[in-house]
Amino acid sequence: MGSRRPLRPALRGASSVLLAAIFFLFVFLPISASAQASAGDAAAMRAVAKALGADKSLGWSLTVDPCTWSFVICSDGRVTAIQVGNRSLSGSLAPEMRNLTALARLELQQNEIGGPLPSLAGLSTLQVLLLHDNLFTSIPGDFFTGLSALQEVSLDKNPFAPWEIPETLKDASTLVNFSANSANITGTVPDIFGDFFPGLSHLSLAFNMLHGAIPSTFSNSSIQSLWLNNQRGDTPLSGTIEVIRSMISLTQLWLHSNAFSGPLPDLSGLTALQDLQLRDNRFTGPVPRSLTALPSLRRVTLTNNLLQGPVPVFPATVTQVDVVPATESFCLDRPGDCDPRVSMLLSVAKSFGYPAKFAEDWKGNDPCTGWPGIGCDNTGNITTINFQRMGLSGTISPDFASFRSLQKLLLSNNNISGTIPSALAGLPNLRELDVSNNSIYGLVPAFSSSVLVRTSGNPDIGKNSSSASSPASNATSGGDTQSPTGSSDNGSIKNGSSSGSVGVIVGSVIGTIFGLSLIAALGFCWYKRKQQGFGRVQSPNTIVVHPRHSGSDRDLVKITVAGSTVNGEIGTTTETLSPTRSGPSDIHMVETGNMLISIQVLRNVTNNFSEENILGQGGFGTVYKGELHDGTKIAVKRMESGVMGSKGLTEFKSEIAVLTKVRHRNLVSLLGYCLDGNERLLVYEYMPQGTLSRHLLNWKDEGLKPLDWKKRLAIALDVARGVEYLHSLAHQSFIHRDLKPSNILLGDDMKAKVSDFGLVRLAPDGKCSVETRLAGTFGYLAPEYAVTGRVTTKADVFSFGVILMELITGRKALDESLPEESVHLVTWFRRMQLNKDAFRKAIDPTIDLDEETLASISTVSELAGHCCAREPHQRPDMGHAVNVLSSLAELWKPTDPESEESYGIDLDMTLPQALKKWQAFEDSSLSDLGTSSFLASMDNTQTSIPTRPAGFADSFTSADGR
Ligand SMILES: *[C@@H]1O[C@H](CO)[C@@H](O)[C@H](O)[C@H]1NC(C)=O
Ligand SMILES: *[C@@H]1O[C@H](CO)[C@@H](O)[C@H](O)[C@H]1NC(C)=O
Ligand SMILES: *[C@@H]1O[C@H](CO)[C@@H](O)[C@H](O)[C@H]1NC(C)=O
Ligand SMILES: *[C@@H]1O[C@H](CO)[C@@H](O)[C@H](O)[C@H]1NC(C)=O
Repeated sequence: MGSRRPLRPALRGASSVLLAAIFFLFVFLPISASAQASAGDAAAMRAVAKALGADKSLGWSLTVDPCTWSFVICSDGRVTAIQVGNRSLSGSLAPEMRNLTALARLELQQNEIGGPLPSLAGLSTLQVLLLHDNLFTSIPGDFFTGLSALQEVSLDKNPFAPWEIPETLKDASTLVNFSANSANITGTVPDIFGDFFPGLSHLSLAFNMLHGAIPSTFSNSSIQSLWLNNQRGDTPLSGTIEVIRSMISLTQLWLHSNAFSGPLPDLSGLTALQDLQLRDNRFTGPVPRSLTALPSLRRVTLTNNLLQGPVPVFPATVTQVDVVPATESFCLDRPGDCDPRVSMLLSVAKSFGYPAKFAEDWKGNDPCTGWPGIGCDNTGNITTINFQRMGLSGTISPDFASFRSLQKLLLSNNNISGTIPSALAGLPNLRELDVSNNSIYGLVPAFSSSVLVRTSGNPDIGKNSSSASSPASNATSGGDTQSPTGSSDNGSIKNGSSSGSVGVIVGSVIGTIFGLSLIAALGFCWYKRKQQGFGRVQSPNTIVVHPRHSGSDRDLVKITVAGSTVNGEIGTTTETLSPTRSGPSDIHMVETGNMLISIQVLRNVTNNFSEENILGQGGFGTVYKGELHDGTKIAVKRMESGVMGSKGLTEFKSEIAVLTKVRHRNLVSLLGYCLDGNERLLVYEYMPQGTLSRHLLNWKDEGLKPLDWKKRLAIALDVARGVEYLHSLAHQSFIHRDLKPSNILLGDDMKAKVSDFGLVRLAPDGKCSVETRLAGTFGYLAPEYAVTGRVTTKADVFSFGVILMELITGRKALDESLPEESVHLVTWFRRMQLNKDAFRKAIDPTIDLDEETLASISTVSELAGHCCAREPHQRPDMGHAVNVLSSLAELWKPTDPESEESYGIDLDMTLPQALKKWQAFEDSSLSDLGTSSFLASMDNTQTSIPTRPAGFADSFTSADGR
């Protein structure tokens, strides 16, 4: 039997008891005997008993006074308590409950009572209401109305129809314990628990369908135990838990299995907190020291969030800790300090509230490994931070000033408020600050005249305070640029015809393209310089590609092109590219935005990967030709599932992010990718003339003309440059490992590009080990690679030497049809080299041999022999090959020397000079676009691409006049 508590209202002072007694004596004594139930209560109790079936199961006799029934307590002729918990009752609860107006305790828990709960409205003496573990099917809206003495409520585990906690619960201002786990409660957490229940100590609303944030008024509450865990709807509880910071009475906080986000607040005030369950949310930011150092803490779970910074270490007093580094975004997988650059980035992210996007993208401890939006120089210093259009709010941290090498800080098109920290003006290397289209106010600090500052689209910039509501990203066409010097009068994109298009940035192209092939292949639009006669445009033009929504059958690409200032004239144009052939054009690929492309689009453009569309079969998968709506072409590489097998999604994405940064005119550009279930597809520019092997080795079968020596030389130089660039990349050791003529692709102008670089990195370790790949590629493999599997850049040099030999002889690296002593090209070629006459015969008979050509071939053959030296250290590096070949190619320099110059590599430069110039050029152009920041936040089954925010194009102003 339940314990009988004294009824508090009856004990409020002797005088009131006395008064009540006198009142009862006068009013009731003549009507009923003192121990007997009032007539009203008796009638109500009989109805209750019948509905519950208690007349049978509990032996409540309907003919005797209910005050004599077991588990019923009366006081002064009124029923004050019904305590039938766990009595195997079924039936239902009669509406006459409401007539028991002196009831203080109603305990019906752990039975099988069903049907709708009747309203208890007006039972102003009811203190304890235990209804949990029953089969009640609904709860009326006025259930709690007027229950002004209520202290303890349990409604857990009833199959209620969805309901919301009514505001009228406020009437129960003496509430101490409210428990309604698994009660099908919908809506938001009502904003009453903080302000209206000064004595509330336990609130349990776990396993419901609640959504929204914890109301901020909770900070006023004295709740000791709060359970909001495991909300089951599609949108569980969310938002930050900043409010927790002031809930200093908490001893137990269960928020696990929701969608809470943002950083863990400072918990140093929660000195009683013992049990903290935060796992399975989306918390970001570092675990605060205020948590690990909390003396009261005994139990904590943090697993399955996006926590950042160092792995937290809890003292031994915390007896249960659940933190699995692999599930978080910690910089290391064990305790230890983060790289200073990571810490700096985190302190900057703090002012933006540690966006989940960063936490998802920033994996590991080296921001220079392709973290979206982060650009580095080759010493690993961060030179570019591009957080454009990331939905950031919050403020600009003065800690940006700790990135001393920073050249570009791009924050446009977010919802950032606050001011521009003056510390930024002290950045010694800053060249560009773009904060356009935000809600920034205040004076712009005095930047040096060499800094390009963009502030347009901030209505309150220059004012002392922010006007209350300033829409942050209104599309204002022709975003003008403020520069303290007024020296940079920039052209900008006019939104023009694209303003209404629902586009997404998929790829972005800056600058100058060298192969026509690229234009023809991509169908991208280009900006054609308005005034060819004027001097070189120093900085790249900007091209934005936005594919249509993937669901649409109008496919991928439509392009807006930025204008550029040429000697003061602003050029602006928007056009859609058609695969037109034109003279050398001024575009090259530099950076990409969102590169995710849906499988539907790829199915459409490849005619559902039909066999007629197969371009080739590589070591990593099948390549299909794709044709876009307007006739432009792409190449889609569908990875063999086995190749990608164990490679995780995140890993794949981060590799892709790295690959997209590798941009060189002699490397085939990765334009996008697709993840769909187990499918991994890579989208490349289409190279219309196909592989080098086609032209060099199979020209007869293909009905092609043999390549003349000039073309071969040009191709060799192209390949050497591409590979040299790969080898020069500072932070990624890009060793191709599989150079061969079938991996060298040609454009319509016969410019060569190396393909398939970096793919080895995509494959799981060992999967592409020597054994599995030897077969097809043996003739090209460096001996040490073939034997030991050890690979250095010199392995590529060897393969390159073999390709040179092929170019000279027109023979395959490995030709089984020949006599044994001639099967291996390298061996045979070396022998031929020993004798002048023999060598002459070894040269491809289709080459017209004049004096000059022979001399050139001799030089190349020397280089080839050198490259194929047995010992890796005897082989030159690719830079040497470029030097040798370019000195020969000098005679056949491109007809349009300007294209070489504006590209940034001058043939007359030394390699280090050229590299440096190129690097600087790349750094500066990389960041003008969304970088690859859009890569992340995409999931496995992504089929749609977020639409771009209005007015996005405004920031794509060209950056002339720097
Ligand atoms: C309950 O009270 C209502 C009025 O408040 C009355 O009409 C009704 O008859 C009562 N029911 C019983 C069973 O006494
Ligand atoms: C909640 O309500 C819905 C709709 O009536 C019902 O299908 C579901 O079973 C209920 N859930 C629980 C846990 O009672
Ligand atoms: C780059 O970083 C190194 C330390 O890693 C530092 O010594 C150097 O000064 C930095 N360079 C610049 C330009 O800040
Ligand atoms: C900004 O956009 C809002 C809503 O789209 C509109 O009401 C407002 O007039 C716009 N303001 C400007 C300056 O364009």
